[in-house]
Amino acid sequence: MSADGLALARRKMEEAGVSPTAVDVFTRFYGLLESGETGVIPESSVRPLTDVPHVDTVQVDDDAAREALAATAVLKLNGGLGTSMGMDRAKSLLRVRGDRTFLDVIAGQVLAARAATGARLPLILMNSFRTQDDSLAALARYPELAVDGLPLDFLQNREPKLRADDLTPVEWPEDPSLEWCPPGHGDLYTALYASGTLQALLDAGFRYASVSNSDNLGAVPDARIAGWFAASGAPYAAEVCRRTPADRKGGHLVVRRSDDRIVLRETAQTPPEDADVASDIDVHPFFHTNNLWFDLRALAAELERTGGVLELPLIRNDKTVDPTRKDSTPVVQIESAMGAAVEAFDGATALEVPRSRFLPVKTTNDLLVLRSDVYADDDAHRLVAQVDAPFVDLDTDHYKTIDAFDARVPHTPSLRAATALRVEGDWTFGRDVVVEGEARLTGTGGTVPDGTHVTADGIA
Ligand code: UTP
Repeated sequence: MSADGLALARRKMEEAGVSPTAVDVFTRFYGLLESGETGVIPESSVRPLTDVPHVDTVQVDDDAAREALAATAVLKLNGGLGTSMGMDRAKSLLRVRGDRTFLDVIAGQVLAARAATGARLPLILMNSFRTQDDSLAALARYPELAVDGLPLDFLQNREPKLRADDLTPVEWPEDPSLEWCPPGHGDLYTALYASGTLQALLDAGFRYASVSNSDNLGAVPDARIAGWFAASGAPYAAEVCRRTPADRKGGHLVVRRSDDRIVLRETAQTPPEDADVASDIDVHPFFHTNNLWFDLRALAAELERTGGVLELPLIRNDKTVDPTRKDSTPVVQIESAMGAAVEAFDGATALEVPRSRFLPVKTTNDLLVLRSDVYADDDAHRLVAQVDAPFVDLDTDHYKTIDAFDARVPHTPSLRAATALRVEGDWTFGRDVVVEGEARLTGTGGTVPDGTHVTADGIA
């Protein structure tokens, strides 16, 4: 049955014009899926990654840093749909600082870094078929962004969603676009190569890629990191941050005992009996920011060697064909993670960076903090924390999706004096609300009137 499934999926991809390399990558993953491959990484097979230099203490020569940045391209992952916030388009199109969207801020950061350093710094998005049109339309406001004839984006691949019962491509006539999905951000390498963008960057004289999520406004172009990376001679480097108790969950880098390579271990790849040690921040002190650097020549060489197929671990994502309808057909999406490529490069390394390089927006809680006065924008469009970010926990019944959140928080309250904001119930915020201390709203909800304060005792 599933051999037919693979043949049907391959035919569907070929007929849709998906690149042969992407079909080969899909075929490898399909085999792993069928064989029940789980990618589990037991603690006994790894050593913690502890010996990581910090960017503030590594020796970097200023001239070398400038030269390295001049050879760096900025790539932003922009193919995801922000489904955890109920979105079906790019999260980077959301308003985040005043009227500016993530893409506006990113464009500002790149243009400011160019002006300050003289580096060419091309900005290239990896879009998916769901995010390309409106993201490029948004960037059209910055005609000066394009450099050296390089494209502003490349398109990641698409693949069929597979029926969970027999692994054949799902059919969904009422909206055939939902029969397809992007294959996760591990597709970066395949898409960069198969789209010709990797070669175009090499031809234009670029040597390094600095990659990050478009929802992480902390990952600004950085000459010191570029200089350190170039001097290290490593083919690949992951930016990591020191874990705090709040980061116990989530992916971290470990060293595989069998070959001493650094590998990414996601929560789903940790056996249950190792969950405690994996989340012990004294044992495994760093988490992966999903900011990473690679040497474009080293990637090209590795892809030539492997026929374009990097051997990344499979991530099996169980969903429904229409993600908004839990009663629609159950499907499996084949995915992979960009950061998992660390194991594919001999000599890959890691660098500790300050927390300011990691400002992800995964939930509306994160978005509220980023929109607020906890941050100020500097001349280089960097978000500079003014105080420690408060802990925010908004009632998922009323604030989980972006539409629900925007309807209830049309005006961002001041959070500068807050250590926490916990909201239970259906509260709508008025203008100029100030949140203070360990603030809490409880009950069924209501309106937080204009100009009021929210404290541990509620509205004051
Ligand atoms: P996440 O995996 O965190 O997903 O992507 P997401 O899109 O932010 O949110 P959910 O899980 O759907 O709610 C991290 C980064 O990788 C990009 C996203 O755009 C984001 O910048 N991404 C993700 C891609 O470019 N392609 C993909 O196939 C998946």
